[in-house]
Amino acid sequence: MLNFKDTVAVVTGAGSGIGKQTAKILAQGGARVVLVGRTLSKINEAAEEINNGLTEQAAVSFQADVTNEADIEDLAAFIKSNYGFLHVLVNNAGTSGKSTIMDMEASEWDRIQETNLKSVYLVSKKLGRLMMESDAGNKAIVNVASLSGHKAGAKIPHYSSSKAAVINFTKALALEFASYGIRVNSVSPGFAETPLTAEGLKKKRFEEAIQRNTALGRVGKPEEIANVITFAASNEASYMTGSDLLVDGGWLIS
Ligand code: NAI
Repeated sequence: MLNFKDTVAVVTGAGSGIGKQTAKILAQGGARVVLVGRTLSKINEAAEEINNGLTEQAAVSFQADVTNEADIEDLAAFIKSNYGFLHVLVNNAGTSGKSTIMDMEASEWDRIQETNLKSVYLVSKKLGRLMMESDAGNKAIVNVASLSGHKAGAKIPHYSSSKAAVINFTKALALEFASYGIRVNSVSPGFAETPLTAEGLKKKRFEEAIQRNTALGRVGKPEEIANVITFAASNEASYMTGSDLLVDGGWLIS
């Protein structure tokens, strides 16, 4: 098990899917974790589920929209006053939509860029300051990108663009934060069973196409992505920064 003792961590979009699994592994490793999301009932439930398996109440929830600067400033103030430090940040919140370029309204383009890309800049900037001031030791940011950031998917041009940008923003951030002892990496999941893909996976043909086009022949589980995210966040990855870890079951090699 990865060791996150004496670690304060934030996971955005932690109420479901990959984010919830990531928060769980961090807490099981000994971290105190702040679960961030827009829907209080969802993040409260996730925190309760995580705390149920632990002797100490390691998970707390904080309601915030990652596209809202004032919300993120409130989150930074909450962490400072409750913990004083921040060591690990997982920028996981994200969303998708389906449209061709020609049918897409500019507002839909903006919605995806704001949620998937601008939020990573905003949260890294506001919470990065706290991480810079935090005591030495393992300090890491992990941004959740996507397989679609490597290979554009059909009818998700806005999503694919935003995730490619997250991969490159990660490298820029890694360069800027290295002198503060903060490592920054991204993880690019392939298809994993979460609320984000639930609608698509209901269609037998979609699931079969994934099985056919994936070297491992199956859809991934959120914990299989979270395992890699938490590895990148841990001290076991102490010499890794500015990297992207592709966790796609072998989609790109098929
Ligand atoms: P999910 O829908 O369960 O998780 C995304 C979470 O982000 C949700 O809880 C949602 O409420 C939250 N969120 C969305 N907008 C937000 C906002 N403005 N402020 C705060 N929270 C917000 O789906 P999943 O799959 O767990 O997604 C996690 C990350 O993984 C996303 O960045 C997604 O793009 C990425 N990803 C997922 C893949 C998959 O196959 N499931 C494949 C590639 C990437």
